[in-house]
Amino acid sequence: MSGLTELYKEIAACRQCEIAKLRTKVVPGEGTENAEILFIGEAPGFHEDQQGRPFVGPAGQFLDKLLASIGLKRQQVYIANVIKCRPPNNREPSSVEIENCRNFLDRQIEQIHPKIIVTLGRYSMARFFPGKSISKIHGTAQRQNGVVYFAMYHPAAALHQQNLRETIEADMLKIPQYLAEIKEIPEEKIEPPQSEQLKMF
Ligand code: URA
Repeated sequence: MSGLTELYKEIAACRQCEIAKLRTKVVPGEGTENAEILFIGEAPGFHEDQQGRPFVGPAGQFLDKLLASIGLKRQQVYIANVIKCRPPNNREPSSVEIENCRNFLDRQIEQIHPKIIVTLGRYSMARFFPGKSISKIHGTAQRQNGVVYFAMYHPAAALHQQNLRETIEADMLKIPQYLAEIKEIPEEKIEPPQSEQLKMF
């Protein structure tokens, strides 16, 4: 049994949080175990809870379009969330829930061993860019221990604020260049590439 399959069993058996009792389905994450890019969202919403799959509602449809803009399908990446159960009424995840799920996400990262971790939204960003503001650091990356961390607004933000749509689309287009130049990126905070240098896959 692969490490991820074993982990999915543990996630499905977890009842540490109250919200585990309220869920329809747990949403561990999905994609290829060999993914170079790992996207981390916040928490399952209504549709994800119904289907047991991440990002399958309106935000997920936008994420699929963003992936297509860099020539990728969701089967070629891995998509996870900070927490694996839906908070009631889509409230924000509590600090206890995030802490209870921390080990699951850590182990997903360990198993997948991605080259780039893309944080989608504030909760996921807070994990790797503590104390930072998303409005300041979206579209920028930093490298730690050979892994590039790249912060983006949550795709759902574009559904509520149309003006963020272009920002999110532009940030997504930076990912292929970071991936291509990963070895050249010094182990420090780096500036986003200039648009004219952007390369597609
Ligand atoms: N929003 C998230 O953060 N994750 C999902 O899986 C769906 C919507």
